[in-house]
Amino acid sequence: MKKVKIVAIVGSLRKGSFNGQLAVQAGKVLGDRAELEILEFSDVPFFNQDIEYPAPDAVKRVREIVKSADGLWFFSPEYNHSFPGVLKNLIDWLSRPINESEGQVLAGKPAALSGITPGISGTGIAQDHLVTLISFLNMRVMNAPRVLIPNGKQQMDENGHLTLSVSAPFLEKQAEDFLRFISKEG
Ligand code: FNR
Repeated sequence: MKKVKIVAIVGSLRKGSFNGQLAVQAGKVLGDRAELEILEFSDVPFFNQDIEYPAPDAVKRVREIVKSADGLWFFSPEYNHSFPGVLKNLIDWLSRPINESEGQVLAGKPAALSGITPGISGTGIAQDHLVTLISFLNMRVMNAPRVLIPNGKQQMDENGHLTLSVSAPFLEKQAEDFLRFISKEG
């Protein structure tokens, strides 16, 4: 049987990102139950209808990866009570039809949301904005459980590595539920 493929979309491009580290931890939590690929999209240009067709190579590449996914798992920081512009830019590209005969690649895809902040917010407000957007694009959103981690530095070791000393069980529960959610018909 084909292994479930989950594509992780991290809303931060920075090295050492808390959310990038959370995505890596999610891959470990999934273990053999699924393949988790972290989407590399730093080369995707700013969306501009002047360059939409033919799609730039980076856009073609991310679309193919997203198309091949059984589910998308978002790991996003909160910027000014929303999700970062780089993530909106990526989703705007993904929201567009590939060509005249094919639709966009997000519709119907199961989605899960997680986030971590150094402060107290835990990314809840950003997640709500993201849910509004991806629901508009007809993604199949798992609204609960979501993972929101405040005070992220408290779960890091002295080298800045995320240990998830407190939140690991919540991530495990979300992974389990997301696998079940993916396996259900839409
Ligand atoms: C932030 N940060 C932030 N944090 C938060 O909890 N709520 C917020 O509204 C904001 N706003 C915000 C705006 C901008 C422009 C930046 C750069 C940062 C702090 C943010 O959570 C922190 O930088 C995280 O470490 C970003 O996530 P990564 O890159 O570690 O994954």
